[in-house]
Amino acid sequence: MSLKNHPAGKLISFEGSEGSGKSTQIAALAKHIQLLGREVLTTREPGGTEIGEQIRNIIVHNSRGDEMCAETELFLFAAARAQLVRQVVAPALARGTLVLSDRFLDSSTVYQGIARNLASDPVQQINDFAVGNVMPDLTIVLDVPTEVSLARIRLRASDLPDRMERENAAFFAKVREGYLLLAKSLPARFHVIDGTQPEAVIEKEVWKTVQRHIA
Ligand code: TMP
Repeated sequence: MSLKNHPAGKLISFEGSEGSGKSTQIAALAKHIQLLGREVLTTREPGGTEIGEQIRNIIVHNSRGDEMCAETELFLFAAARAQLVRQVVAPALARGTLVLSDRFLDSSTVYQGIARNLASDPVQQINDFAVGNVMPDLTIVLDVPTEVSLARIRLRASDLPDRMERENAAFFAKVREGYLLLAKSLPARFHVIDGTQPEAVIEKEVWKTVQRHIA
């Protein structure tokens, strides 16, 4: 299936390590966009569809999760993404909607490709196959030091941390490094924001950046 972005629809993805503040900033940005009178849709990965949420459950809460190999994990994330793109994102873009996604294909590049150390060519091919030609128009990375990420995971884990959150500091250091490297290699699409700033300051910078892309 060939999928084409509607000229007026835009896909904006938010990336960053655990606890980087993506969901707070996505909610704030959605309000700004609504005030402009534009249609906005927020979604998340893995998930965002009934099938995707079930896949999410297998990835993060499966009791046999410790047995899951990195390749299986990659395919599961890609499967959830393929479903989200075709069921939700592409139709919304075709209506001219601004779609805000909490994570998208760059999460697989960084978590599976870099932190799990899978070869980058297959990761990119599987990513490409999953998204068709639906690519983010803008990707905002909320960058926080690994210690901040880990502290925020501990703080919000009222219940037990999930399978991904149980990874060690070295893993999250690779995730952070991976995002910064990726952003450097694709400066036209990526915008990195210091996620340790006060929420209101980040919100302003996100809104300023997004306005430049949706004008
Ligand atoms: P979340 O907690 O930000 O919703 O993301 C779920 C976890 O899944 C998080 O640890 C990041 C991870 N993840 C990947 O490893 N690869 C991916 O492609 C995606 C979308 C998420």
